[in-house]
Amino acid sequence: MKRTLLVTSALPYANGAIHLGHLVEYIQTDIWVRFQKLIGNNATYVCADDTHGTPIMLRAEKEGITPEALIARVHQEHLRDFTGFNIAFDLYHSTHSDENRECAETIYRNLRDAGLIETREIEQYYDEEKGMFLPDRFIKGECPKCGAADQYGDNCESCGAAYTPSELKNPRSAVSGSVPVLKPSQHYFFKLSDARCQQFLRDFTRSAPDGIPVLQHEAANKMQEWLGTPGENKLSDWDISRDAPYFGFAIPDAPGKYFYVWLDAPIGYMGAFKALAKKEGLDFDAYWKPDAKTELIHFIGKDILYFHALFWPAMLHEGGFRVPTRICAHGFLTVDGAKMSKSRGTFITAESYLQQKLNPEWLRYYFASKLNGTMEDIDLNLDDFIAKVNSDLVGKYVNIASRCAGFIKKQFEGTLGETDRAVFDRIVTDEALAEVAAAMEARDSARAMRQIMHLADEANLYVNDKQPWLLAKDPEQRDQLHIVATTALNLFRSLSVLLKPVLPAVASQIESFFNGAPLTWADARQPLPAGHRINDYAHLMNRIERPMVDALIAANAESLQATETSKAEKANDKKKEQKADKAVDQKQDSKAATEGAHISIDDFTKVDLRIAKIINAEHVEGADKLIRLQLDIGETENGQPKFRQVFAGIKSAYDPALLIGRLTVMVANLAPRKMKFGLSEGMVLAASDTEGNHPGLYILSPDSGAQAGMRVK
Ligand code: MSP
Ligand code: ZN
Repeated sequence: MKRTLLVTSALPYANGAIHLGHLVEYIQTDIWVRFQKLIGNNATYVCADDTHGTPIMLRAEKEGITPEALIARVHQEHLRDFTGFNIAFDLYHSTHSDENRECAETIYRNLRDAGLIETREIEQYYDEEKGMFLPDRFIKGECPKCGAADQYGDNCESCGAAYTPSELKNPRSAVSGSVPVLKPSQHYFFKLSDARCQQFLRDFTRSAPDGIPVLQHEAANKMQEWLGTPGENKLSDWDISRDAPYFGFAIPDAPGKYFYVWLDAPIGYMGAFKALAKKEGLDFDAYWKPDAKTELIHFIGKDILYFHALFWPAMLHEGGFRVPTRICAHGFLTVDGAKMSKSRGTFITAESYLQQKLNPEWLRYYFASKLNGTMEDIDLNLDDFIAKVNSDLVGKYVNIASRCAGFIKKQFEGTLGETDRAVFDRIVTDEALAEVAAAMEARDSARAMRQIMHLADEANLYVNDKQPWLLAKDPEQRDQLHIVATTALNLFRSLSVLLKPVLPAVASQIESFFNGAPLTWADARQPLPAGHRINDYAHLMNRIERPMVDALIAANAESLQATETSKAEKANDKKKEQKADKAVDQKQDSKAATEGAHISIDDFTKVDLRIAKIINAEHVEGADKLIRLQLDIGETENGQPKFRQVFAGIKSAYDPALLIGRLTVMVANLAPRKMKFGLSEGMVLAASDTEGNHPGLYILSPDSGAQAGMRVK
């Protein structure tokens, strides 16, 4: 059954640049929506700029432009960045739009008619010089708990205390510097404490439309905490008005009062959809009326759960609309294990990433390989980023096509042959596809990517096993070559279907390479037939080189000078360290030479240890201890991989079939030795305790992430 979904990402504020933290969310949502479209569902993805509020008003003033001019410019910038990362909104709108104003007014009137809006006089700090009430963030003073200076009006960054602005000592306006005065004002409140809201939110928290909980486990727990036990009635009413001057929507029948930005921000989802509906003739009610059969899915960061799981559903429900089907919260992005930092250059903007010419699909893949549908934070580890993209995308995935496409073009005029269905059906099984689909549906793209890479491994093993580069040298093997290259390319095409939501630009290149219609999910199980003509293969993706990442960090380092000094200091420190190390080394070397029981580091580095991938393993006829290994240590000959043959005395401990595909460690510069069974070109390392109590043989394995060919030292 075809599902109809409206999917959203949180609306970014219109006063800042999009950075990689934001992209965790937009990329995740985009991948999910593309997946839904790929499997044939009717999915719509809307987003918008969040344009209202005091910070935007003041920012525009500082720049000497109107808020409208500011948000128009930022809208262009945001859209440019999103487009650069292949994020395909059906509409990227603005909360400062007629549609949003209409929706906000409707919801407000409905809440008022239901008796859920109340006015109350409150006292708030007022900046007399500037003539405006001050939001908490625009008041600074000393913390009432610890006395720390220069703290915001709502909480202390030094001791973590939370308080109200009137508790702050020696308050100052951050806008004008003047001493603010407390001044009364009428405010409008949404009565969340009303029994109807409390009951609704309790039910909502526990609801599971179509059997899937509306909230993730962690989010539901948070909600329980906020709601308290039924008798507790922990929710207080929500202040939804702000006084002029304010950049926002005027509240109907309330002169000088504006909706607080967080009221019309989530309504922006509805406003954006309304604009899209107008443009494309969609049925607004089918998406938003209480009995709507469509799904409404929100992707958000964990920091704004409160607004999306409490205020927003309550507003919708009591305001006469349907409620969200699912709220999907994700964690925060860290870079190399720490909060993004401007001075370290890890506060990386989307714009800089694109300007430095890093491939956006590298980041899309990396995030996909990390996101698992929970609220855990995710880390962009720069070394891991380089290693993963190079090994998975370039080394495994693209490799299949680049190894086989040439044969089809050069030897078969670009025409495919028969596919070995036994091989194809063994690798691309219905179960494998269903597993990938289930993981994608559950937003566990990390699991999906692992499964896809496992299939890529199998495809590569097939190519390694058939050695088409050897078949190509033998005219008698021409038919076999045609089958092998075709089968490999069809496997590659199936993998491309699965990766299409993550790598849309690569996918579209591949679609023209295969000279067919856009790939759909069903194509994954359907190899192209013999006789199908394909186009010339164009290189699909480069490796990430470390200097590119270094340049990106440098470009983002806030103050170039600051980094230069710290670099100089570091370089100096490093020199000192090296000097000290050298002195110690020399001492130790001479000691070693005299004592004889040690080797020098130079002795050790003579041994060229390498990570080796076991490409093949088999018994050796006539040998009772040996297994013949084919090892990949990243060497090539005439552009083709070249493997080492090693005879290893591990037959008693290992079944050859189970060794294939594993990584181990080999001595790569051992002099080759001619044995009865052939040349042995190295040695693999294994642990054993032949005299002790733990008989057996254990070959070494590196930690995950190590790649064939890496030096071990
Ligand atoms: N304007 C509000 C959202 C209103 S939705 C009706 C807002 N804007 S934001 O620009 O601060 O953030 C937009 C989204 O990006 C939020 O979901 C937020 O959680 C997410 N992220 C912002 N920084 C992030 C990280 N460092 N890491 C992951 N997500 C981050 O909040
Ligand atoms: Zn404090």
